[in-house]
Amino acid sequence: MINKTTVLLFSVMVLLPAAAFRQYATPPSSAPEYTSDAQLKLPEHYRQWVYLTTGFDMSYNPAMQMGHHMFDNVFVNPEAYKAFVETGTWPDKTILVLEARGAEGKGSINQKGNYQGAEVMAVEVHVKDEAHFPGKWAFFGFDDGKTAKMIPTSADCYSCHAAHAAVDTTFVQFYPTLLPIAKSKGTLSASYQKEIAMPAEK
Ligand code: HEC
Repeated sequence: MINKTTVLLFSVMVLLPAAAFRQYATPPSSAPEYTSDAQLKLPEHYRQWVYLTTGFDMSYNPAMQMGHHMFDNVFVNPEAYKAFVETGTWPDKTILVLEARGAEGKGSINQKGNYQGAEVMAVEVHVKDEAHFPGKWAFFGFDDGKTAKMIPTSADCYSCHAAHAAVDTTFVQFYPTLLPIAKSKGTLSASYQKEIAMPAEK
């Protein structure tokens, strides 16, 4: 006979642990989400995603002088990372996040070298969503808000990434765990292969 106590015991012993397990086993969904006016919602859990690299004071323009030192950290959603490991390129619904932080020098016991400041200076997002964007990919820049408008395709983000990035408009040449995979799967872009065959003059 099933009485109330049995039901209660069942819930406590089976359902509760199952719910708790689900919460920890499955990270929050990482597909891109938009507002009704087509803005991208900030993927707030990106710090629990897969870490790709940290750039330090990277500059794409020899004349550019930055007044301060910067780190940039790149993360990707776990589903896309898994697909990249298998195929050497990005699936639909890939989200890459670049997070900029200022470099700090003196603090606590540190005497030399730099570490990352607690304040996030900028968050930029590169999304592959084939049904949403005619060019498949789109860029977004988040200031303080939780939503961002798409950066227009006339911006230099698109032209530099298209011309110089190693895999599908993303800078895999700077992501050390991914570059060997792209090489072995033969997914390097034509422009990047040309660049490594004929290195730019110094
Ligand atoms: C002149 C070239 C250039 C321009 C212009 C440029 N980027 Fe990038 N971008 C890079 C490089 C190089 C990296 C790799 C950074 C690293 O290794 O840390 C990168 C990485 C990124 C990433 C990480 C994911 C990826 O695609 O590899 C995002 C997001 C990003 N850039 C956003 C932007 C946005 C938004 C703009 C325009 C406002 C922009 N970029 C303009 C060169 C460029």
